[in-house]
Amino acid sequence: MNVIKILADRFSVALEGIGVDPAPYLDLIRPSQDAKFGDYQANFAMPLGKKLGKSPREVAADIVSKFDYADFFEAPEIAGPGFINLRVKTDCLADLVQKEACDERLGVERVAKPRRIVLDYSAPNVAKPLHVGHIRSTMIGNSLSRILRFLGNDVVSDNHLGDWGTQFGMIFYGYRNFLDAEAYSKAPVDELARLYRLTRQLVDYYDAKGKIGQLEESLASAQKAQADAAERAKTSAENPKAIAKERERLAKQTAVAKENVESVRGKIDAVESSPELAKLAAGRETIGKDVLMETSKLHHGDAENRALWQQIIPLCLAEVDKIYKRLDVTFDETLGESFYNDMLGPLVQKLVDEGVARKTEGALGIFFPDQDVPMLIQKSDGAFLYATTDLATLEYRRDRFHPDAILYVVDFRQSHHFEQLFEAAKFIGMENVELAHVKFGTVLGDDGKPFKTRSGDSVGLKSLLDEAEARAYAVVAENNASRPEGERFSEEEMRETARRVGIGALVYADLSQNRESDYVFSFDKMLAMNGNTATYMQYAYARVRSIFTKGSVDVEALREEYANGTRTLTLNDPAERALAFELVRFQSALENVSKDYRPNFLTAYLYDLANKYSSFFERCPVLKTEDECIRSNRLLLCDLTARTIGLGLNLLGIQTVERM
Ligand code: ARG
Repeated sequence: MNVIKILADRFSVALEGIGVDPAPYLDLIRPSQDAKFGDYQANFAMPLGKKLGKSPREVAADIVSKFDYADFFEAPEIAGPGFINLRVKTDCLADLVQKEACDERLGVERVAKPRRIVLDYSAPNVAKPLHVGHIRSTMIGNSLSRILRFLGNDVVSDNHLGDWGTQFGMIFYGYRNFLDAEAYSKAPVDELARLYRLTRQLVDYYDAKGKIGQLEESLASAQKAQADAAERAKTSAENPKAIAKERERLAKQTAVAKENVESVRGKIDAVESSPELAKLAAGRETIGKDVLMETSKLHHGDAENRALWQQIIPLCLAEVDKIYKRLDVTFDETLGESFYNDMLGPLVQKLVDEGVARKTEGALGIFFPDQDVPMLIQKSDGAFLYATTDLATLEYRRDRFHPDAILYVVDFRQSHHFEQLFEAAKFIGMENVELAHVKFGTVLGDDGKPFKTRSGDSVGLKSLLDEAEARAYAVVAENNASRPEGERFSEEEMRETARRVGIGALVYADLSQNRESDYVFSFDKMLAMNGNTATYMQYAYARVRSIFTKGSVDVEALREEYANGTRTLTLNDPAERALAFELVRFQSALENVSKDYRPNFLTAYLYDLANKYSSFFERCPVLKTEDECIRSNRLLLCDLTARTIGLGLNLLGIQTVERM
């Protein structure tokens, strides 16, 4: 049920009646900010007045006279410069809510035209442990998958694992040169992670040594330019503002150069200040190339590297799966990069034959009319790139799934890659498929910089999940201790509750952000009992559910009475009405998520709903109400509230608990 849609349909007729194309104006129907202006407000009379050269109030009156409302809305009011205030008739609202409460899908209709949507999310590089950023792609993708499916679309979730990239070269190199066999036999994945980090560190070390001279020169010349400018400023007759501006620019330039030197210097010092690392680094000047060679051998079918890959990959996947299990995430398909390896050569050949790709400085690239950089699909040494695999993946998905849309839930830093990929898709006959980069920002630490551990690595996802659960456990255990003897949780129940609460908090904190913004990670905030948090929502859910337990209400039987017409819902108190109005907005919240792939529209909705419920609950006693009709009506509202919160959280990928 979507009341905005009902309004839009009816206003569409009215707008045609005054001779304009309704489409652009219908978006200007919104829920009112303030209940005293009614439920909804239509704000199109102002732009229309301008367009038609009439007074907006006159236009509003004209539209209202052609607007068929009487069976559903109170008489519209025209306010201020020409706002049209609308109010749903209370008995119609009650009728809508009653229908929702008796419906398994809570009144949410399926889309008229289901789309087949391939959803590409999570997609970690499996050779390294997952880090904090992976929660974003994984959980935004997971919630979109659930919501789009629930709305009736045909969704294929596909985990495009990074199981074939240069990280494997790092691991292979590490395995051959630094393996601690005992550690590997005890905890293989930890050892692989160590090998990856170590090799990476040594690659970075030599890379840094190669760059430092040049960077120091740049710094020196930036500093000199800055000093010269300071000198000139003393005597110059030029405009002081211009001088100040120039000096500011030079100061910035120096700061950047300095930062570069420091970061590269840090990589060198980290190795040279440790006798152990320095010893390992000695004589490995070619490590960067050697690592690339290992990857290349894998790609070209070298038997030893293939065998090593076969040995390692199940270990990596098992590790990633553990995390998915904890997050309650699954995929329809898991087709990693390796799956496409054999398609890359023929694809590149085809693109060359068709004239889509051509040579550029020894490499091969796809050129676009208004961009100077091509998209590289093969390096001069013959290696294929990330983009090549993504092109092959596009073709594969096109042929196997015939999608209407492919959505990529990937870090915003890959924007350029996807812009190019989507341009290139037009060359392979995919101009009618919606391709969208559902991008997201960075998780930050307290200092406003990307969230890192003290040693400068990005924070591991596993340790975050552990900590979230541990913190939730502490709270659950404390609450438990203060409960009367008979009502206490078992140890197992406490663990399960802590898992749901802890991980739910982490996930909700992520999903409630505008996905394109960066946000600061804070356990305290995400586990707060108040505010827009999962904990608050789960608590609201459990509280509503407890009413039924406490009153020994058979909720199925209650619903049945409303379904078979024994009872009819009426809304008598303004707080009941306000709650009812919020309840019928569920569908529109889900539709808003699906419009631009933004789960935060759903979290915001749930938060509003929980708040409306709180106000209702403060004003309107439920179990204590004598009048049996009112009591039942209120119970039905409670039931629908709990189910809406429960379903809403479920669609976000968050589990509820019956007691907290
Ligand atoms: N594995 C990639 C990374 O970690 C993300 C892959 C996203 N999906 C894709 N089709 N490119 O950066």
